[in-house]
Amino acid sequence: MRVTVSRKAHFNAAHRLYRPDWDDAQNEAVFGLCANPHYHGHNYELIVSVTGDIDPETGYVIDMKVLKDLIHSEVETAFDHKNLNEQVPEFKTLIPTAENIVVVIYNKLRPHIQAGNDLEVVLYETPRNFVTYSGS
Ligand code: NI
Repeated sequence: MRVTVSRKAHFNAAHRLYRPDWDDAQNEAVFGLCANPHYHGHNYELIVSVTGDIDPETGYVIDMKVLKDLIHSEVETAFDHKNLNEQVPEFKTLIPTAENIVVVIYNKLRPHIQAGNDLEVVLYETPRNFVTYSGS
């Protein structure tokens, strides 16, 4: 009997989407407003889901408090109110698109999730635009 446990979280961060090997015109053509050289912010919303068997002793798949603290330490502390390009090491050489951010978040959380449990991360960059990664 596998059950999915989900926790929502939130962070604000600035980014700029651009390739230094492209000129401004090409960056703007591909990345649009997100290529703005002066950066801009998003209110990112996150849903982290862990799927696994219910522990018969505790009745939990994962303790929500443990999941909350994990998201706080691995994601919120690292990303909240940061300039992703300049202040988050993973994005020194990786374009901070929603796709790349969700993979980075997944990879930060995965080592802390019990083997045998599945992890899925959904990242909203805007209320209408979101990406999903579950490690495949
Ligand atoms: Ni953007």
